[in-house]
Amino acid sequence: MKKQTKAIRTQAAKSQNREHSVPLYLTSSFAFESAEQGKALFDETEDGNIYSRFSNPNVTEFVDKVCMLENAEDGIATGTGMAAVFASMAALLKSGDHIVACRALFGSAHQIITQILSKWGITHTYLDATATEAEWEEAIQANPTKMVYLETPSNPGLELVDLTMLARLKAKYGFILNVDNCFATPILQLPIDLGADLSIHSATKYMDGQGRVLGGIVVGSKELIQPIRFFARHTGPSLSPFNAWVLSKSLETLELRMDRHCSNALALAEALDVHPDVALVKYPFLPSHPQYELAKQQMSAGGAIVTIELDGGFERVSAFFAALQIPTLSSNLGDSRTIVTNPNTTTHAKLKPEEKAALGITPGLIRISVGLEAIEDLIADFTQAIEKSADVVAATVVTADVVKENVA
Ligand SMILES: Cc1ncc(COP(=O)(O)O)c(C=O)c1O
Repeated sequence: MKKQTKAIRTQAAKSQNREHSVPLYLTSSFAFESAEQGKALFDETEDGNIYSRFSNPNVTEFVDKVCMLENAEDGIATGTGMAAVFASMAALLKSGDHIVACRALFGSAHQIITQILSKWGITHTYLDATATEAEWEEAIQANPTKMVYLETPSNPGLELVDLTMLARLKAKYGFILNVDNCFATPILQLPIDLGADLSIHSATKYMDGQGRVLGGIVVGSKELIQPIRFFARHTGPSLSPFNAWVLSKSLETLELRMDRHCSNALALAEALDVHPDVALVKYPFLPSHPQYELAKQQMSAGGAIVTIELDGGFERVSAFFAALQIPTLSSNLGDSRTIVTNPNTTTHAKLKPEEKAALGITPGLIRISVGLEAIEDLIADFTQAIEKSADVVAATVVTADVVKENVA
C-alpha cells in the first residue's frame, strides 16, 4: 500500500459508536478495569494507556503515521519542535560528551547547545553546512563525540548537508546522527533511509500546514527512542490530544500540500531569479544553487522556502513588505498562506554580527515561506512590490549623490 493511502487510512480503533472521523480523547487518565489490570499496565506485562503524559490514542495515531512516513521503528511526540530537539539531546547525552553541529541552526537549537548543554559539561563544535568530509572528520572526536546534529536544508540560508557523507563518518566513529527534517518533511527527504539515526520535526510547520497548533516529534530506532521515551515520560513535554488530532488529520493531506508548496516555490524562485532588481535568489532546486546536485540526490523536490536579497537594506525591505498585498509578515513558516520574514531583524536578530555574516544574514535578506495560493497571483504580487519598493533604492542613491555634492 502506498504511503499516501496509509497516511489517510491509519487511525485509532473505532469505538462502539462506529464514528468515521477519529474522536478526540480529551482525558488526562484512563480507567483500569480491575486492580490486576492496573498492576499489569504498570509492570508492562499489558500494553495500554495509563495517563496522557505517557500515551493517548490521538497522540499514538499521530506518532504511528509519522513513523510510517519516515520509515522509522518508533517515535515520541512532544508539545513543540523544540521539546523534541531538547529531549533527543538531554536523553542521549551526558556530561563529558561532545556534540558537533551545523552553524546554520534554528536559533533555539543554537541556544540549547551553547547555553544549556554547556552548563552540564557537554561541549560542542560548530561547522559550516558546506564543510568538506575532511573538515567534518577533523571536528569529530571519536570519543567523546556522541552526536552530530543538523538541519538540512538550513534556515534561512537553504544550505544542505550531505547525509550520505555523514552516514559514512558515522559508520567509522559511531556517533548518533540527529537530523531536523522540518524544512523538507518526510515527503521530500528520508534522513533515516540515508543513514540518520533520528529524524526530528517541528510539526508546527508543514505537518500542521495551516498555522494552528504547536507540536513536535522525534522518530528513529526502538533502541534510541526508548531512553527518549523514558526522559519524556518523566519530564513531561507531552503533545496535547487536541493538537495530535489536528496534526494527524493534517498528515492526510501532507503529500498533496507539499506537491503544491514545491511547485509554487520553484515557479516563484524562477520568476524572481530572472528579475533584474533581485540581487540574489536561493532555492535548492534552482540550478544556480551551489549544492543543486546534492539537492537532487537527497531530496525529491526543493521545498517551500525561497530566500531572496534586495538591494537597499532594511528601508527597502520595509517598503517591499508594505507594498505586498498577499503575504503575511510573520516569523512562522510552513503555512498554506505565504509568509515573508526579514531574518536579520526578527528570527536571527540576536546573533552576533560575525555569526550573521557566517550565515549570510544581511539586512536585505528575505525568507519567503511559499504558500498554496494561486502562483500567478503570488508572482504578480511579488513583482509589483519589488518594482514599487525600488523607489527607496533610487531615493537612497539620489540622497547619497546630494550628500556627495554637498561635501564636494
Ligand atoms: C527548523 C526548525 N526546527 C525547530 C523549530 C522549533 O519548532 P517549534 O516552534 O515547534 O518549537 C523551528 C521553528 O520554530 C524550525 O524552523
